[in-house]
Amino acid sequence: MRFVVTAGPTREYIDPVRFLSNPSTGKMGFAIAREAARRGHDVVLVAGPVSLKTPSGVRRVDVSSAREMLAAVESALADAKPSDVLVASAAVADWRPAGCAKSKLKKRKMDGVLRLVRNPDILRTVKGVRKVGFAAETGDAIPEAARKCRAKGAEMIVANDVAEKGCGFGTDTNRVAFVRPDGSVERLPLMAKSAVARRIVRAVERGAKI
Ligand code: C5P
Repeated sequence: MRFVVTAGPTREYIDPVRFLSNPSTGKMGFAIAREAARRGHDVVLVAGPVSLKTPSGVRRVDVSSAREMLAAVESALADAKPSDVLVASAAVADWRPAGCAKSKLKKRKMDGVLRLVRNPDILRTVKGVRKVGFAAETGDAIPEAARKCRAKGAEMIVANDVAEKGCGFGTDTNRVAFVRPDGSVERLPLMAKSAVARRIVRAVERGAKI
């Protein structure tokens, strides 16, 4: 199977030296890419700015902004088959500055001037392939995940509460639940991200046989 995995944060530049971003380290997405390659799949990893080694057997494309990430995903899926899978684990910035200044802005010029526009939603935009998304919430992620799953046309959303101890940004462990469009929920215990990745890849493989 072909897996295209997004991972890490995106950077949305305000001027040449400042950007909006988030604390994502890319660990979950890299673990998924590593596991999928280990299981013999063809894997393209579209990574935002992170400091992780490329897993062996994985083709990696580095990007910075959400728009670059979308373009790289679309190019990786240019000749996609319906059986190909997009796993969107990147923490994509929801907004970007309306414009990026050509030279460094002066402090006094910045008060109250940052106008934001919405970034494209990569998971929602990509069509014609199988899709798995994530939902990171501070609080109970499950009701939101079921809604997102239907809204974005995903076959599964991996929900996690990033405020919970041992979960979310930068940790090596995660406690997630698999939420499906029909609202069914499969809760997994707290486990290493590598083990979560294995469960995700296996769930995708099982889905292919249905
Ligand atoms: O709506 P929310 O950002 O919580 O959705 C999370 C899911 O959507 C994740 O799978 C994330 O990778 C994906 N997403 C995306 N492009 C965005 C925002 C989110 O692919 N601009």
